[in-house]
Amino acid sequence: MKQYLEQLEQAEKEAPARIDAAANVEELEALRLQYLGRKGVLTAALQGLGSLAAEERPVLGKRANEAKNFLAALIDRRTAELEEKRLAEAVAKSRLDVTLPGARGWDGGLHPLTLTLDRLVEIFFSLGFTVADGPEVEDEFHNFDALNTPADHPARDSQDTFYLADGRLLRSQTSTVQVRYMQANQPPVRIIAPGRVYRRDTPDASHSPIFHQLEGLYVDQGVTFGDLKYTLEQFAHQMFGPGSSLRFRPSFFPFTEPSAEVDVRCVFCKGKGCSVCKQTGWMEILGCGMVDPAVFQAVGYDPERWTGFAFGMGIDRICMTMMGINDIRLLLESELGFLSQF
Ligand code: DAH
Repeated sequence: MKQYLEQLEQAEKEAPARIDAAANVEELEALRLQYLGRKGVLTAALQGLGSLAAEERPVLGKRANEAKNFLAALIDRRTAELEEKRLAEAVAKSRLDVTLPGARGWDGGLHPLTLTLDRLVEIFFSLGFTVADGPEVEDEFHNFDALNTPADHPARDSQDTFYLADGRLLRSQTSTVQVRYMQANQPPVRIIAPGRVYRRDTPDASHSPIFHQLEGLYVDQGVTFGDLKYTLEQFAHQMFGPGSSLRFRPSFFPFTEPSAEVDVRCVFCKGKGCSVCKQTGWMEILGCGMVDPAVFQAVGYDPERWTGFAFGMGIDRICMTMMGINDIRLLLESELGFLSQF
């Protein structure tokens, strides 16, 4: 009996330090076997019970149980500690910083010219216009003759217009679509025609051989210059704000008579004069006028019966003004650093 009690005491004395010192689950398992296993100290004590006197048995039994609970608790606690340590090490080793922001994908977006065009189309749609289209490779008839442009007009010069080997050309203005639309449709007409145009210009911050125009054409009976002014003013209020105002200056275009160039009061300085409007207080935005009877004749409309107005504006210029872009070439360069700002 005494020998068993001593063994138990000895185990309780030495076990805490040894259990604490176990560096991993394997070492701990070895200790568990040593104390609590089939060949361990506890089992030996319990097996010894049979050889003891009846009054000694409960005494040793009680001690053995106490020692067993004590050791089992120590081992359980150390197991939990080691498990926690193992987890912490695994996490550290995987180097996963869950607080890092995720990698963001590229969203894509609309080109500034598309954004501008969408707005222009939306406004003219609200004024009753629909969108018409025409080819970029054109002929002299649609680009010049039908638009009442004389044979010796400087715009026809190959210094200004790109001609193809077969005599066709890259359209230099969207006014071509007026001609095509009237040839194919009877009045009344209310169309806008946005698109690319081409001119032999040397590229710089404000010139590009490829740029974009939006043409407008309105044909009906009894159309007046007042209708033209009203339409463009409604457009300006929506595009540049309700406080905007327009200025019409007499001008000349072969396909309209009378003709005007139209300025909008500078949207930045409100007319005071700034670097954007070159201190003039105004920004030129479009050309316009009443459709020349010669154009109606060219497309087979009766000039005695039909009247109309037309206008043409540069989309690139409007886009640059509205979005603060200072070089027209940026609009064609497809540079992502630039485009991702819009
Ligand atoms: N086509 C002209 C240009 O490229 C712009 C223009 C002016 C269009 C007057 C028109 C207009 O329809 O009536 O400069």
